Amino acid sequence: MFENFNIPQNLRPSDPRFGSGPSLVPVEFLTALAETGTELLGTSHRKPVVKNLVKEMQEGLRKYFNVPAGHEIVIGNGGATFLFDAIGLGLTKKKSAHFTCGEFSQKWYKSHKAIPWIEAQEFASEYGDGCEAHDVDDADLIAVTLNETSTGVMINSLPKVSEDTLLCVDATSGAGQVPCNVSECDVFFFSPQKVFASEGGFYVAIMSPKALKRAEEVAADKSRYIPPIMSWSHAIENSVKNQTYNTPSISTIFFLNEQVKLMNKLGYEKVVSMANDKANHIYGWANEKAYLSCYVEKESYRSNAVATINVDEKYSADDLIKVLEQQKAVYGIDAYRKLGKNQFRISLFHNITLEDIKKLTEIISLAIESA
Ligand SMILES: Cc1ncc(COP(=O)(O)O)c(C=O)c1O
Repeated sequence: MFENFNIPQNLRPSDPRFGSGPSLVPVEFLTALAETGTELLGTSHRKPVVKNLVKEMQEGLRKYFNVPAGHEIVIGNGGATFLFDAIGLGLTKKKSAHFTCGEFSQKWYKSHKAIPWIEAQEFASEYGDGCEAHDVDDADLIAVTLNETSTGVMINSLPKVSEDTLLCVDATSGAGQVPCNVSECDVFFFSPQKVFASEGGFYVAIMSPKALKRAEEVAADKSRYIPPIMSWSHAIENSVKNQTYNTPSISTIFFLNEQVKLMNKLGYEKVVSMANDKANHIYGWANEKAYLSCYVEKESYRSNAVATINVDEKYSADDLIKVLEQQKAVYGIDAYRKLGKNQFRISLFHNITLEDIKKLTEIISLAIESA
């Protein structure tokens, strides 16, 4: 249907990467890394040059998120999926309650459900819908996903939880631009390959004093075997010394630090407002075109980090995606594979400019309207 479509030169985006994860790593970051020559890569993570980089990154995140004193910026290898299990094993006492609305929040729930000595309860919303999490009387941990990457749903508010309950937020694809007060979370965690423009395999978990204490309490229960790689004590001990328990990818930390510096130059409020401008453009476009619609019906749940736009069945989104990829102009706008929708899923992560989002929407409109 779109085989003869040619993208006009003036509409080619400055960067073709619109994927929702991994996100685009700016080429300037690669150049900056290359400029470190023999001084960084190939050095032990216990040496000052790497520890200083880690420290700068941790302090940068503390500033960006306005993290209160007493909270620790805990880091380690494995990414958010690793933390799904680590939180079940090392931070949950008896029961976790999961507010799910898509693949990732459900994956977290399933991780906890598989642990025989804790109970996991699911409060499920329909895909495409959002959820309002609440405290659950007999749960000692509440699990919430800030931005459900599979469906493009963001949450609007955090629940208030009781004294002895931890509020854990998987912020992987929203951290940094989906509004969230980190000081209200006990564990606010993310992988850096989304808004933070780095690579995968790494995690940041910002932990409150309550969460740090919980980690100690659970570790003290010697009847539970926790593999050392999943030990919160190891992760925390190393993080306060600007290290990771085992060897990290230094380039991942380098890119993350570059992005934190870049975002700190603008500040949190500005980054959020730039994200909102892109979201307003893309959802406005979807509402205006008869052949498009927003997958997320309720406006307040429409993410400012990942937009999901349905396309009239007359036009195959996959066919158009293929043509745009062949022309090396647009990559990564496929719908989340398991959703099975005729849909574009477009990342609005910080490094994707409003100008490029405007060009992308023009390209799609032009292709469909001339089909
Ligand atoms: C909301 C959310 N949680 C968790 C993950 C898993 O992250 P990772 O692949 O770094 O483990 C993702 C990945 O896309 C995600 O979007």
